Amino acid sequence: MTSKLTFPTGFLWGAATASYQIEGGWNEDGKGESIWDRFSHTPDKVKNGDTGDVACDHYHRWPEDIALMKTLGLQSYRFSIAWPRILPTGRGTVNPAGLDFYSRLVDGLLDAGITPFVTLYHWDLPQALQDEGGWEVRSTAEAFVEYTEAISRRLGDRVKNWITHNEPAVVAFVGNWIGEHAPGKKDLDAALKISHHLLLSHGWAVPVIRQNSPGAEVGITLNINYTQPASLSPADYTAYRVGDGLWTRWFADPVFGRGYPLDVLTSGKKFGLIQDDQMPYVLPGDLDAIAVPTDFIGLNYYNRGLARADVPDNAPQTVFQAPKDPDHWTEMDWEIYPDGLFNILMRLHVEYQAPKIYVTENGASYSTPPNDEGRVPDQRRLNYLRSHFAAAHKAIECGVPLSGYFVWSLMDNFEWAFGYAQRFGIVWVDFETQQRTPKDSALWYKQVITDNGF
Ligand code: FCB
Repeated sequence: MTSKLTFPTGFLWGAATASYQIEGGWNEDGKGESIWDRFSHTPDKVKNGDTGDVACDHYHRWPEDIALMKTLGLQSYRFSIAWPRILPTGRGTVNPAGLDFYSRLVDGLLDAGITPFVTLYHWDLPQALQDEGGWEVRSTAEAFVEYTEAISRRLGDRVKNWITHNEPAVVAFVGNWIGEHAPGKKDLDAALKISHHLLLSHGWAVPVIRQNSPGAEVGITLNINYTQPASLSPADYTAYRVGDGLWTRWFADPVFGRGYPLDVLTSGKKFGLIQDDQMPYVLPGDLDAIAVPTDFIGLNYYNRGLARADVPDNAPQTVFQAPKDPDHWTEMDWEIYPDGLFNILMRLHVEYQAPKIYVTENGASYSTPPNDEGRVPDQRRLNYLRSHFAAAHKAIECGVPLSGYFVWSLMDNFEWAFGYAQRFGIVWVDFETQQRTPKDSALWYKQVITDNGF
């Protein structure tokens, strides 16, 4: 048995969700269509044809969900705003019903003693903006500022923790290079341009939030999984540099004021991954805007990836090794690698000198159902969380300014291209009845929060 690990006083324990994954109510009360509505309504895009039309029906059940959070002892709740509820066509006319929904949610959380962490963009772009080119055009970044203005003006008196974007790398690359997420494009050159407009919109939004939400803390959430070269060969090392460059440095470097890592463009062109190694869309002043100081950085961490060069065209890529031992893999086929969380936290601390860090997502997919007694014995999720909490604790002992931890996810939900086939919740959701059942991991987590350690 290891001895008890205690976290610093004031360490914030929470859980996270995202609008499209839980809300449902996809066309209610004036909400506009999002790219995820369009994508999931298009045949063959999402597993089993699942959609977020109803999802966890959180749009109607939010009071019950806040009560649930309170039962679990959560100190904080990270959720995202659906932009098309606020501005149904992305810009212009504001939908008061959308603002009211989130305003009531925030009041409910505060009444329950739960600190709201609001993410502005967790992937549900208004379809009307996509029709004009989406994040590929600069005007979408301008529309994001308009949206930020509307929502932060309404919630800024009560919400004091803001995250501009969730995982811009996934938005740019999974949505527009790999094409498995909305809008489903497959073009890395376009994805790089998109990444710039995402980061630019972050830079432009931060001062707007500060203006409308005095005393607020603002940050951005990056997904950084731990990557290593698959072998000691120079080719695999190059693959690692390109993979790490694209997925991590391409986003972290400009946010931390270092501009874009140009080696990524050079090697991307050399390997034929990109056609154009110029960035004419980066205008004077853009890099300064992106480098706006933030109060914290959010880290989403799940697994380890290995970079190798031995694909047919010799282009570098990052792969996940085939599952061997089920004890070390989750049902997403993601390797369980808590040391990677420690390493990434150290990297953000030492290499990027992040002033303050939150783990804004970490969790595991297991489909363990309720048993005959109605309990959900998800011991493997509990083990996953415990090992990652321990890695976070070790990082804190090494001086990392980690201030809080959000488990992904509060409840089972719509897992993007996997639909309802992957369950990340610490609360079981029966999607037929919408009944919620805290899993064993949730009950354990409650105790961790009470003891501020385990
Ligand atoms: C992250 C997303 C989140 C969820 C988890 C499993 O990339 O931010 O919405 O899908 O993965």
